[in-house]
Amino acid sequence: MYAVTGITGQVGGGVARTLLDTGLSVRAVVRDAAKGIGWKERGCEVALADMNDAPALTAAFTRVKGVFVLIPSNFDPTPGFPEVRATITALMTAIEAAKPSKVVCLSTIGAQATQPNLLNQLGLVEQALGALPAQICFLRAAWFMENTALDVAAARDVGIVHSFLQPLDKPVPMVATADIGHLAATLLQETWTGRRIVELEGPRRITPNQIAATFAKILSRPVRMEAVPRDHWERLFASQGAKNPTPRAKMLDGFNEGWIEFENGERGSRKGQIEIESVLRQLVARG
Ligand SMILES: NC(=O)c1ccc[n+]([C@@H]2O[C@H](COP(=O)([O-])OP(=O)(O)OC[C@H]3O[C@@H](n4cnc5c(N)ncnc54)[C@H](OP(=O)(O)O)[C@@H]3O)[C@@H](O)[C@H]2O)c1
Repeated sequence: MYAVTGITGQVGGGVARTLLDTGLSVRAVVRDAAKGIGWKERGCEVALADMNDAPALTAAFTRVKGVFVLIPSNFDPTPGFPEVRATITALMTAIEAAKPSKVVCLSTIGAQATQPNLLNQLGLVEQALGALPAQICFLRAAWFMENTALDVAAARDVGIVHSFLQPLDKPVPMVATADIGHLAATLLQETWTGRRIVELEGPRRITPNQIAATFAKILSRPVRMEAVPRDHWERLFASQGAKNPTPRAKMLDGFNEGWIEFENGERGSRKGQIEIESVLRQLVARG
């Protein structure tokens, strides 16, 4: 039995589907019972737990071979990151009490960066959980290809996509969430000792201009990228409701300046199989 958190989301769903397709049993960890029904129908056990609820997480992680941990995204964290620190405390309590045989935790490219930015949240997770006397693997994923979902309407209706990734001809490490889910499920079935880091990107790095060209091919219309000027970002994020827009802007700086990178760059990362065109086709079909 494998416990999967974040199962109603992109990566957790992929982890669970891969395990189920391999004939392994899954405990779906959900915070809303209604969202567990579909997984129960697929043969999963269902456990109810919020990621900040240590007793509920302990119950969810008890008597399993492995746990997949997904830290919910927070693009607008309070300074000092109290939100993720609360999640870390709950997770550490639960892992220490339930003692699952192993843990695979989704992390990110650049989790090791010391420059202040949004991804420091996953750096804190790695430092804290990595100190536990447990078999724990941090799967550091590249920029999700599915982040492009937000650009489908602009590409289709206007033919102009606004990019924070720039310059527009700079290749960016990206990966499909299905590739991440597949690798996380594989790692859950492996054995290692102590703390382990695995880094993953797609088959090749992709520029924003290549994304526009791929949209153009799929939509059969001209599509171009337009860089959002750097001095607009914080004001723009604030106008969209962010109270603390700087960490997100700094993360984007890190991708653009190259200090959000894998430990050993492109040559040290594992490569997924799914190409950007396949992901964009799915996103366009979904509308
Ligand atoms: N986007 C990127 O480019 C990128 C790159 C590298 C790493 N990451 C990391 O990937 C993770 C996000 O993965 P994803 O896109 O698969 O997530 P997602 O699709 O946004 O799904 C989030 C999942 O977390 C659950 N969740 C949210 N808050 C919760 C809470 N308080 N308690 C319990 N469950 C909660 C959601 O459940 P509900 O259905 O109930 O909401 C959902 O299952 C983040 O840790 C992010 O830092 C992202």
